Amino acid sequence: MMSTDRAGAILVTGATGFIGSHTCVDLLAAGHRVVGVDNFLNSSPRALDRLRKVADRDLDFVRLDVRDRDALDEVFRRWKIDGVVHFAARKAVGESVEMPLEYYDTNVNATLGLVRVMAEHDVRRLVFSSSCSIYGTVDRVPITEDTPARPTNPYSRTKWMCEQILADVCAQDPAWHAISLRYFNPVGAHPSGLLGEDPRGVPNNVMPYLAQVAVGRRAELAIFGDDYPTPDGTGVRDYIHVVDLAEGHRLALDHLDDQPGHRVVNLGTGTGTSVRELLDAFSAACGRTLPHRVVPRRPGDVAALVADPTLAREALGWTARHDIARMCRDAWEFQRLNPAGYDDEEGA
Ligand SMILES: NC(=O)c1ccc[n+]([C@@H]2O[C@H](COP(=O)([O-])OP(=O)(O)OC[C@H]3O[C@@H](n4cnc5c(N)ncnc54)[C@H](O)[C@@H]3O)[C@@H](O)[C@H]2O)c1
Repeated sequence: MMSTDRAGAILVTGATGFIGSHTCVDLLAAGHRVVGVDNFLNSSPRALDRLRKVADRDLDFVRLDVRDRDALDEVFRRWKIDGVVHFAARKAVGESVEMPLEYYDTNVNATLGLVRVMAEHDVRRLVFSSSCSIYGTVDRVPITEDTPARPTNPYSRTKWMCEQILADVCAQDPAWHAISLRYFNPVGAHPSGLLGEDPRGVPNNVMPYLAQVAVGRRAELAIFGDDYPTPDGTGVRDYIHVVDLAEGHRLALDHLDDQPGHRVVNLGTGTGTSVRELLDAFSAACGRTLPHRVVPRRPGDVAALVADPTLAREALGWTARHDIARMCRDAWEFQRLNPAGYDDEEGA
């Protein structure tokens, strides 16, 4: 892997979360120095031990709330930071409808504060976690980056607002370089089975739900609707392996300086998989047909969301490498080895 020739470290916010932890591993393997921050709102301190173990290299870590500007300022005083990957956010669509202020505070206010502190310390290189959910209901797939954003819930609006803030900041000051990565559906786990997705409470997404059915923590998968205009009637999504996604962040950092300003880039495979196909792939991975039942559609769900990943290939040299069988295999391995998630274990 390419190593950095910059002297400073990469600040990763949300470092112990699902995508953040895998990205820290990738950055450390590529020779970057990493400073991680997280307040463990939706992650376990054990993820930190695991990521150190998997990377076999150390990172510096500070427990802080990204809304706390003084604490962020202290990080920039203590370490020389070259660039920032900003993952820390609340991410559940349904919850965002229930508690919009928390979402605007954590996702938008914290990003404003971070950008301000970065500028005060003369750091103007940022990779931001955005989401394909900002596209809302689309007229056609695959989805290119110039598809108009039509966010349909507070969570997606926070991501869209952050993108616009970054675009305005970059337009005003050409010293800024920012890339918003619009992820499609991140799934899978590190192949070691040591790092993975460990949602708190009932999983919002189908893959961790399936994994919990497979390990016996949930009775069956509810398939929300089989009357969509898709080949088998179930919803189609573009699942992307978290290891591929992590690599996308490193490449985005490598290519930040290629052009000034704010850019948006989809990270997806370009291949759609239906819920039934996913169920079959996961059943093959865990060796038994998983119980499931078709229930009515969920309000707000759309038939198909699939990325056009051309820009990621052209601008970042990035292409997803893992297929759906591999995503299921790795997700299952993590769940099998950690039946109750990270907090399952006796010690770190
Ligand atoms: N997983 C997905 O399906 C998906 C899809 C598109 C975009 N995203 C975005 O990617 C990013 C990472 O997602 P993830 O799946 O790894 O989620 P995650 O919840 O596993 O990780 C987010 C991390 O941020 C931390 N965090 C939350 N609020 C914080 C605060 N105020 N201060 C410090 N830390 C805080 C959490 O403790 C957690 O460790 C998020 O911005 C999310 O919106 C995720």
